[in-house]
Amino acid sequence: MSYQVIARKYRPQTFDEVVGQQLVSETLKNAISGNRVAHSYIFSGARGVGKTSMARLLAKCLNCLQGPSIKPCGQCPACLEIAAGQCVDVLEIDAASNRGIDEIRGLRENVRYLPSRDRNKVFIIDEVHMLTNEAFNALLKTLEEPPERSLFILATTEAHKLPATIQSRCQHFVFRLLDYSEILGRLKQICLLENVEAPEGALSAVAQAADGSLRDALSLLDEVIAACGNRLDEVKTRQLIGVVPMEYLGGMLEAVHAGDARSVLERIGQLCAEGSDLSAFCAELTRTIRNLMIARSCGAQSPLLQVSGADRSTLEKLAALYSEEELSRFFQIMLRAQNEMRYSLQPRFNFELALMKLVHAGKLLPIERLLSGVGKPTPSEGGAAGRRAPEAARFTAGGTTVSPARSPSVKIVDPSPGPRPEIVERAPEQATESAVAPRAEEVAPAIAGDDQRLAAIKATLFEQSKFLGSCLNPLTGWRCEAGQVQFFFSKQGAWAAELLQSREHKEKLKAACEKVLGQQVKIYVTLSPESGKETRAPLSSRQRAERDPVVETFRKRFDCVWENVQDVSRGNRQ
Ligand SMILES: Nc1ncnc2c1ncn2[C@@H]1O[C@H](COP(=O)(O)OP(=O)(O)OP(=O)(O)O)[C@@H](O)[C@H]1O
Ligand SMILES: [Mg+2]
Ligand SMILES: [Zn+2]
Repeated sequence: MSYQVIARKYRPQTFDEVVGQQLVSETLKNAISGNRVAHSYIFSGARGVGKTSMARLLAKCLNCLQGPSIKPCGQCPACLEIAAGQCVDVLEIDAASNRGIDEIRGLRENVRYLPSRDRNKVFIIDEVHMLTNEAFNALLKTLEEPPERSLFILATTEAHKLPATIQSRCQHFVFRLLDYSEILGRLKQICLLENVEAPEGALSAVAQAADGSLRDALSLLDEVIAACGNRLDEVKTRQLIGVVPMEYLGGMLEAVHAGDARSVLERIGQLCAEGSDLSAFCAELTRTIRNLMIARSCGAQSPLLQVSGADRSTLEKLAALYSEEELSRFFQIMLRAQNEMRYSLQPRFNFELALMKLVHAGKLLPIERLLSGVGKPTPSEGGAAGRRAPEAARFTAGGTTVSPARSPSVKIVDPSPGPRPEIVERAPEQATESAVAPRAEEVAPAIAGDDQRLAAIKATLFEQSKFLGSCLNPLTGWRCEAGQVQFFFSKQGAWAAELLQSREHKEKLKAACEKVLGQQVKIYVTLSPESGKETRAPLSSRQRAERDPVVETFRKRFDCVWENVQDVSRGNRQ
């Protein structure tokens, strides 16, 4: 007794049965109806997405004894033989095992004869990229002058390996990977036809594991049915194909979120003790992080998500714990780990390292925030703000910040003017209490003195745009009187003056001044060092560096002092 595997049994026999690939289907249907079918096609795309099926379908449409038609009858000898892969006028050549010139010579010989019964002779060359160069050249000749009533379909998973000369003689269709939901739909349909009772969770696991290939999905379904019989069991299905339950992945991610390295490591230990495949788990975790990233950016209902309905709400809750920034960092770490584990002698170590990185990645601050000295989470971080609150660097009323360290937390002086950095050990609870972030405007009035006000304006501008902030570096002087702020630039700083004179930049400069000075102002940007009482001589590089808010931020963060070293630029020349 012969059992036909599901993937073969359910090869699509009509365009309606083809899942996805609408673009290819529509174009081919139009060509058939309009009698404009080309002589040669390339069908390229990932494995198991319908290339061979579509090639056979096209052959059937053209050769059906009732046709040509976009709805082949499926009953005539031509239709039946093509479906069974036994038609003498439809030749399938596997280029992976017949790579050489002889096979293509044989093909050229064959091409010269008319079809024996059907309207057209169809040559389907699978894995065509495997042909040798000589074979390609021989094929090229045939494609250049295709005999009447012949059709070539070159199927390949690696179209980029085809010589350009071949590509330019064919119409090229790219078959895309199938969506999770398309695969899930087809699995449900087939289970219904096969009288298999399948909970959505089980089919969802199969669809996820298939990674866009319908053939892979159907092969997995075969395996699962073999193991479970006609009533699929969700837990068994997941175990069988190595898909980890959402709760387990969620648990791991919650431990990461809590910064609980111990729990994370123990969970990995448990996985190993159970004999789980760590690489598969890593792949699952990576997929989940990708899903979280999508849920965070596109919403939990996005069709881009590869999950069942039940898992969507879990994902949504998990996604709210992290910022987009964090998730993309996590994604990067996991992708790298996945790759490294493949070649590692100790994949467990790589996996542990990756998860420790996730635990610690949450404590990192974006460099821009560190530079601006403001640890206040931006509103766009939404739910993540809750996570950062106790940990991230923040302003406190005294102009101090609480560092990102978790425990014990460390207090250091913020970059705005104040006393020398002071390091105080604090219990984490205290840190949480004091982490109330006043807005920048509340901090501003404390700043006194011209240089300090200018530094604050620069810092505010820098926060918006690093480039714009740096435009104030070549400033030779500034004056603030009666609601008028004047900025002076010398010839060397003409570029900056010009930029700041544009309306858009001037608006930003005005906003920064108003924020710092606490009053409405008018802005004047002047290209003349002589005007203005407070005009100064051009600054030395040391002076410029000393006034640069970024340098100052770093100096204070890392508790540095200025040293009287020789001016490097001058020293070198002497
Ligand atoms: N788009 C699709 N619609 C319906 N069924 C499909 C589709 N793609 C694949 N299948 C299922 O998978 C099986 C294999 O598909 P097919 O042979 O067409 O894939 P392929 O793209 O030629 O793959 P390969 O590159 O490995 O040759 C089919 O018999 C069918 O059951
Ligand atoms: Mg194929
Ligand atoms: Zn027919």
